[in-house]
Amino acid sequence: MSTTRTGGLEGIVAGQTALSTVGKEGVGLTYRGYSIEDLAEHAGFEEVAWLLLRGELPTAAELEGYQTRLRERRGLPGPLRDILERLPATAHPMDVLRTGCSALGCLEPEEDGRSALDVIDRLLGLFPSMLCYWHQFHATGERLDVETDDRTIAGHFLRLLHGRPPEETARRALDVSLTLYAEHEFNASTFTARIAASTLADVYSAITAAIGTLRGPLHGGANEAAFALIEEFADPEAAEQGVMEKLRRKEKIMGFGHRVYRHTDPRSTIIQRWAERLGRETGDTRFYPVSVRIDEVMRREKKIFTNLDFYSAGAYHFLGIPAPLFTPLFVFARTAGWGAHILEQRANNRLIRPDADYVGSPPRPFVPLAKRTASAGG
Ligand code: ACO
Repeated sequence: MSTTRTGGLEGIVAGQTALSTVGKEGVGLTYRGYSIEDLAEHAGFEEVAWLLLRGELPTAAELEGYQTRLRERRGLPGPLRDILERLPATAHPMDVLRTGCSALGCLEPEEDGRSALDVIDRLLGLFPSMLCYWHQFHATGERLDVETDDRTIAGHFLRLLHGRPPEETARRALDVSLTLYAEHEFNASTFTARIAASTLADVYSAITAAIGTLRGPLHGGANEAAFALIEEFADPEAAEQGVMEKLRRKEKIMGFGHRVYRHTDPRSTIIQRWAERLGRETGDTRFYPVSVRIDEVMRREKKIFTNLDFYSAGAYHFLGIPAPLFTPLFVFARTAGWGAHILEQRANNRLIRPDADYVGSPPRPFVPLAKRTASAGG
């Protein structure tokens, strides 16, 4: 395997998409031509999901119908409930969603007259129920009623998690965060979904694979890792010293840097404003100031900027969401992007199968079992 900086498919154009632009000069991040700033300011997550999956922004009637459609898809089938109850309380919530998605593929397969859009909408509706049911069952033994009448996924999730309807500011903050996480071109998990789709696998298989890819701390898992980092420090001075020490040890600081963006992540600017506001409203005097100091140290020492995951950790923390549930929220949102990419891949499919540079042994004669000596790897 090549170990040069050309690894990781950096700079390789691996296909075409009409879904989003990432870091294009003068354009930044757009979903189907709309800027992320406009979408975060003026649209709700369900509008964005419709835009990604159906191609245009919905009319008011279409949006209402879509919210109803998603709301009708929140119910947990009995066998899935059993599976969630049997998973250990110690499981990582990302493993729970990965398992739940795969199990639903057995219970409600795409082949049984369901369209790809039916499956994607079902997963959009069901993931918050799945996560909160498992979380609540193992935290308190309660079998949660997952049918709420909240029209939005953000409100539905906060209500299931906290057992009461959320304040509008809290609901809107999470709603904006879902919009920011919804789509991002050929990132690792989306590319995984497209590879699976290119084999003509079903939607569940593609999304299960994508969830597994999102889990790692170099990708979606960074929001949980950023939370753990910020939590280490009692105040900004301690953060300054601690981060300098980590940099001396050449450790990566989670929530910073990006493969495509070079100067800033436009999503981070938006979520930072929400984190600052939520921190102020919840009376925080430590978490946000520590976050800002880490940000300043990284800019000063490494000229590296925060990506979406860094200030999302603060926003979620101020919303009272436990850190292990941070990356699952990324799943709720990115299901829209993954789904749209699966549809796009299917519409003009060719198997994705790149080449590799072979750097192994030259051709050699086969050694019979009796004549082999122990190898270094044995
Ligand atoms: N902390 C410290 N140094 C960093 C960081 C970081 N977070 N990110 C990059 N660097 C440094 C690397 O050490 C390397 O330095 P060197 O040239 O002296 O060796 C240089 O910047 C290039 O880094 P790479 O890891 O090669 O960059 P790549 O494009 O492969 O990685 C990535 C991008 C994975 C996002 C990287 O910046 C990283 O690991 N960040 C931390 C994890 C993270 O926050 N992931 C979330 C991504 S965004 C999202 O999923 C929403």
